[in-house]
Amino acid sequence: MDLIPAPRLAVLDEDGLRYAFGPEPALAAGPGTQGVARLLRRDLGAATGWSLPAAAPGEAADLRLRLDPEQGERLGPESYGITVDATGVELAGASEAGLFWAFQTLRQLLGPDAYRRAPLPGRTWSLPHGRIADGPRFGWRGLMLDVARHFLPKDGVLRYIDLLAAHKLNVLHLHLTDDQGWRIEIKRHPRLTEVGAWRARSRWGHRASPLWNETPHGGFYTQDDIREIVAYAAERHVRVVPEIDVPGHSQAAIAAYPELGNGDVVDASALEVWDDWGICENVLAPTEAVLRFYEGVFEEVLELFPAEVSPFVHVGGDECPKVQWKASPAAQERIRELGVDGEDGLQSWFIRHFDGWLAERGRRLIGWDEILEGGLAPGAAVSSWRGYAGGVAAAEAGHDVVMCPEQQVYLDHRQAGGADEPMPIGYVRSLQDVYRFEPLPPKLSAEAAGHVLGAQANAWSEVMQDQNRLDYQVFPRLAAFAEVVWSSLPEPQERDFARFEDRMTAHYARLDALGVGYRPPGGPLPWQRRPGVLGRPIEGEPPHA
Ligand code: ACM
Repeated sequence: MDLIPAPRLAVLDEDGLRYAFGPEPALAAGPGTQGVARLLRRDLGAATGWSLPAAAPGEAADLRLRLDPEQGERLGPESYGITVDATGVELAGASEAGLFWAFQTLRQLLGPDAYRRAPLPGRTWSLPHGRIADGPRFGWRGLMLDVARHFLPKDGVLRYIDLLAAHKLNVLHLHLTDDQGWRIEIKRHPRLTEVGAWRARSRWGHRASPLWNETPHGGFYTQDDIREIVAYAAERHVRVVPEIDVPGHSQAAIAAYPELGNGDVVDASALEVWDDWGICENVLAPTEAVLRFYEGVFEEVLELFPAEVSPFVHVGGDECPKVQWKASPAAQERIRELGVDGEDGLQSWFIRHFDGWLAERGRRLIGWDEILEGGLAPGAAVSSWRGYAGGVAAAEAGHDVVMCPEQQVYLDHRQAGGADEPMPIGYVRSLQDVYRFEPLPPKLSAEAAGHVLGAQANAWSEVMQDQNRLDYQVFPRLAAFAEVVWSSLPEPQERDFARFEDRMTAHYARLDALGVGYRPPGGPLPWQRRPGVLGRPIEGEPPHA
């Protein structure tokens, strides 16, 4: 059946027969299935031309949707079953989410044309008799999009939500703020987007590149855009986790409001939104006023990202250089007042403040694994990016963890070692490497493994200036990642990559129908290359200039 991610169980009936849909199939939507029925009518209706009228009570329907909570007891709350026989097709979900994943499987079974937005002339549709029983291995199956370094306009985000759903991924982590741009409207602090959402130019390539793109870059999501994104995702059972990065990665905010910076060691009023890549020393000042400012930001964020959608709010916490705090008399005085352990203690104080603040509002803090330094706040969860170690330490201490080690699942990193890869950076991580990624490291105790919520792939966008570059880096590897978090065997070497590659043949046709600009198996097409733009060389190798 060439499904990706592979289902737990899929059997074809021995009769070898197919159920053939007529020109106007009827749909029976059981109690609680209206949301999925609506999307199915919309998406499948577009591809097939069917209007899928409701079957009259007691009348046989070609397509039947129902909730089957009992099934969830065996395969989990997001599980589903599909049966195709001479009477038609039944999709049964343990929950609405499970039923939605069943619909995604149905689209794959119908073939690539089921992803088109208008019917091809003369196309008929049929499915082989058989059944599928399926459910995910992990509950957090995510992708992080860095919309700060390069802005991804709203339509692009909605498109990525569709692409996540097609792969049964259910978390979209939006990295909304960084040194190079602030991307979410905050009503009480309008300069965050008036000033912070724009930069005059951008380095073209990675840090070693001497080239500049002199076109101003920017953009942001209005609060209504965010509401639309969150609701669109929720309909597709994708949770959006917002990230506001503190106390580092904050130059865009400081450029907008210089009082957020360490004014006794830097002329913050002279700072602009950063036009370069790397780790920036302009970090937030550790003052009560800065905490109040960001409480205001988070108040608006909490309203836009309701707890029912995701309790988690990401506060970043990564890569906060301590240079300015070391030099700043005000920061040093603060260390003494608070009685914390040096600059690391200040960072920990900052994160702990928001851990408590979010907990008081019924929400949960998640941050990059640097938040372990100086002691993890009591309710915090960790995104483990600098390898597995932070995640292992946090999980063993009873904290929830999302595994996203840069050595395995940073999709901005090059997919092959050749000189043709566009602006190549980081480790070489091929489709097969991502397929062999294992979210649970072997050393983890069984109890700690229970704290690993799942995994996510991260797509940083310094060298991905538009949607085509993003597609190229993310696909096809996101398909391998989806199989890892949905269906993988815990032992990576037991995963059959040759069979996965066979199934990818069918999947490339789906991605083509979806209009995804993936990296072809043979390497980049001429227009996907960026000759002459430096990325970052592999250690010990000359840069691919
Ligand atoms: C990160 O890659 N700085 C989380």
